[in-house]
Amino acid sequence: MPAYDVIIIGSGPGGYVCAIRCAQRGLKTACVERRETLGGTCLNVGCIPSKALLHASHMLHEAEENFAKMGLKGKAPSVDWKAMLAYKDDVIGQNTKGIEFLFKKNKIDWIKGWASIPEPGKVKVGDEVHEAKDIVIATGSAAASLTGVEVDEKTVVTSTGALELGKIPKRLVVIGAGVIGLEMGSVYTRLGSDVTVVEFLDHITPGMDAEVSKVFQRTLKKQGLKFVLNSAVQGVEVKNNKATVTYKSRKDDSEATIEADTVLLATGRVPFTDGLGLDALGVKTTDRGMIETDESWATNIPGIHAIGDAIKGPMLAHKAEDEGMAMAEVLAGQHGHVNYGVIPGVVYTHPEVATVGETEETLKESGRSYKVGKFSFMGNARAKAVFAGDGFVKILADADTDRVLGCHIIGPGAGDLIHEICVAMEFGASAEDIARTCHAHPTFSEAVREAALACGDGAIHA
Ligand code: NAI
Repeated sequence: MPAYDVIIIGSGPGGYVCAIRCAQRGLKTACVERRETLGGTCLNVGCIPSKALLHASHMLHEAEENFAKMGLKGKAPSVDWKAMLAYKDDVIGQNTKGIEFLFKKNKIDWIKGWASIPEPGKVKVGDEVHEAKDIVIATGSAAASLTGVEVDEKTVVTSTGALELGKIPKRLVVIGAGVIGLEMGSVYTRLGSDVTVVEFLDHITPGMDAEVSKVFQRTLKKQGLKFVLNSAVQGVEVKNNKATVTYKSRKDDSEATIEADTVLLATGRVPFTDGLGLDALGVKTTDRGMIETDESWATNIPGIHAIGDAIKGPMLAHKAEDEGMAMAEVLAGQHGHVNYGVIPGVVYTHPEVATVGETEETLKESGRSYKVGKFSFMGNARAKAVFAGDGFVKILADADTDRVLGCHIIGPGAGDLIHEICVAMEFGASAEDIARTCHAHPTFSEAVREAALACGDGAIHA
């Protein structure tokens, strides 16, 4: 009998959630983690620390822009960068220790070190080999590289380095107008950096509803971010800690350069499976390095499973968490399921942007007839009271059945508001179901209801 029912490799949101769920289902569980702390990229160098810096810099922005308007007089606070980083580190510590506590509570063994899989049923960490009936790979992802750009995590950084810069850069160039680039670009703009985002496409946030993407770009521009679109970065040269970024216009092939103190490379992430020994095992991967799995997260090798950023689908912590829970249920002999059609995406800038389900573009592409219910936060009393009237809620519903197909929000609390729509979509609700549900006044949520009303007879405050 192997010592463990399950060994999970990686303790990010996919791995640790899977471990806890396995233990709750009565499986003897271990989790291998090479970092000194649990929680993976998300808790240590991703979602959580970036939210701390987004919050702190937003507070500064509020003090500078809005305090006086509310009769709060006095000098805006100045930034103590070291103290802000210490606050961020404290937030990380609280969360990683929280996972450690949950592991102890659920009697999950944390095996510290790098794991490899010498053969199915065996996980090698250092000199020790641990046996398990099932192995789950939850090793996540790493920043994608770009030809001509050498990351040193000092002058040219990935999101990891961007969270612990020695000082706030005067000039920051961000390569890639995706979620990482825009969140970190927002942080440093508010902290006083001159931020330019260079993007390959002719719009920001690829895959997002085009109308939201446009309004989002306009809003960020108003906040001070500069955009160079339709331009491919060719390389970065670093001399005396100063960087020169060269990019080529995709319209006319002309080349230009921008100088920067810091360059953030944010052109996507790739699955991270280094050192596991997948090739020797014969585990099938795609040409982009993703582990291939079936609908129950099994690889082609019996007893080896994979979840999270290492497999296909959006590289999002909550997608990995859902797979982790469902994976545990499958391993416990139950039926685990993830509804990939209802996975929200949130950009934690101010205003926040949140999306779920179909966009107008995907609906047009599939030829499905739909209706649009839109409501501006300008018509929402609560939003106006807190200087958050910019933005809107847009609900897309089936033209014949009124079933909610998607929702796109740019505005205050968007990342929380979207979940009302997620639940509605899970229950197959119609826009009218949302419109007929009482929403407390005055809340931002009323804007969601108004958008649902706009799918039918019309919104009240529009
Ligand atoms: P991304 O894939 O979202 O965006 C990368 C951008 O870089 C694209 O717009 C692409 O067109 C552009 N690009 C690629 N090559 C370029 C070049 N040579 N020159 C100029 N632009 C170029 O990737 P990102 O922002 O690095 O994020 C990685 C992953 O992490 C994503 O899957 C994202 O969803 C996830 N993430 C999610 C967060 C959230 O949910 N709030 C926060 C941070 C990351």
